[in-house]
Amino acid sequence: MSILIKQGTIVTASDLYQGDIYIEGETIKAIGNHLNMSADRIIDAKGMLVMPGGIDPHVHLDMPFMGTFSSDNYETGTRAALFGGTTMVIDFILQKQGNSLQAALQEWKGRSDGQAVGDYSFHMAVTDFNEETKKEIRHFIEEEGIISFKTFMAYKGALMIDDRQMVGLMQEVKKHGGLINVHATNGDFIDYLVAKHKSEGKLSPLYHYLSQPEVTEAEASGRFADMINYTGCQGYIVHLTCEGALNAVRRATLRNQKVFVETCIQYLLLDASLYEKDFEGAKWVMSPPLREKKDQAALWSGIEQGLVQVVATDHCPFMWEQKMMGKDDFSKIPNGHPAVENRMELLFSEGVKKGRISLNKYVEVASTNAAKIFGMFPKKGTIAVGSDADIILIDPNEKHTLSVKTHHMNVDYSAYEGWELTGKIKTVLLRGKVAIENNECKVEKGYGQFVKRSKVDGKI
Ligand code: URP
Ligand code: ZN
Ligand code: ZN
Repeated sequence: MSILIKQGTIVTASDLYQGDIYIEGETIKAIGNHLNMSADRIIDAKGMLVMPGGIDPHVHLDMPFMGTFSSDNYETGTRAALFGGTTMVIDFILQKQGNSLQAALQEWKGRSDGQAVGDYSFHMAVTDFNEETKKEIRHFIEEEGIISFKTFMAYKGALMIDDRQMVGLMQEVKKHGGLINVHATNGDFIDYLVAKHKSEGKLSPLYHYLSQPEVTEAEASGRFADMINYTGCQGYIVHLTCEGALNAVRRATLRNQKVFVETCIQYLLLDASLYEKDFEGAKWVMSPPLREKKDQAALWSGIEQGLVQVVATDHCPFMWEQKMMGKDDFSKIPNGHPAVENRMELLFSEGVKKGRISLNKYVEVASTNAAKIFGMFPKKGTIAVGSDADIILIDPNEKHTLSVKTHHMNVDYSAYEGWELTGKIKTVLLRGKVAIENNECKVEKGYGQFVKRSKVDGKI
């Protein structure tokens, strides 16, 4: 099958030009102006922005967490991602404390094999680093193509590792050319505040927010930066939310250190006033919590300054009934919110259309940088000859409204209900196949492939 996309405005992280793209099979074969190849299908892209498919490197699909499972599985989650212009996601495998990494991989394969509609990969979350786990690291990087290892400095008793394990893991991962992702908040500090609020009968979602003040994230981010500076391992802070944590990263640059930073769309656009809506605030209970307007300003500037390289979602949806598990106790509300379908359009509308970021920066933080940091560039994350034909067409002027009534995520509320956006994803190609067109998904469950990733050198 061959496709010719004609006369769109092609945007990559570095270029913007009018042109045609010729695709054969799964791959981009030629780019030029007025290409005269014949093709099985011609797509007229006049008036459209033609960009690489989005990559969301932080999602949780069908994940066992806080006594339940996140409500999107690999089928519904990757399909919803495609509707929103995200052609690839990276999900997290969670090691069970006391068990091997391999056992966790098999469990996750059991839920994902043959299920995905869009492409995906895994980060491996190490929750128990010991002499046995240490022996598995090389295999994951060299054989499984899973080169990124997630660590939690919070969720004590479930996912958290201590600094001793963290430093040991960093040294082993560095030896084999991988990188460490971190949920950087101070777990002990948070646990103290959670217990204190509960003992005082303060049980509403607002106290989820008040149990994780900015300092808990700023401190852990600085500590993480110190540990990767000492070990020389590559490090990536996931879902960074606030000015204090960003300043910890900024300080690390003063000793010529590079720390990769991801923020998520919700931290750029939503703020903690949502926790004042009584139990409805549970819709936005996530960790770290939403912050203040001054933090949003810091994050937008951080993107501009190159301190923040990736805008992800931490998509971790739960049905309202699941959120109700914490009706009388905020610490039992499953943490996470739905956004994988909304990220690209929200960032386009609120970022590009409102003049906060350029079109090139949009592509960089929504796709290219994730591909580079996580070892799959230039196969993914750009429009170039030889790259996978993962391509989106955006109508930059079409207006639409986000709603639970029209989204495809398997969750019964929208965290962005009624938001009016400018810019609509119209067509999505995944590895040379039209996946989304006329608001319909044209590819089946099983089309999505697991993407093996390569070692990285920390240069992007
Ligand atoms: O609230 C969140 N973020 N839920 C998912 C787990 C995590 O910490 O990323
Ligand atoms: Zn996290
Ligand atoms: Zn997460």
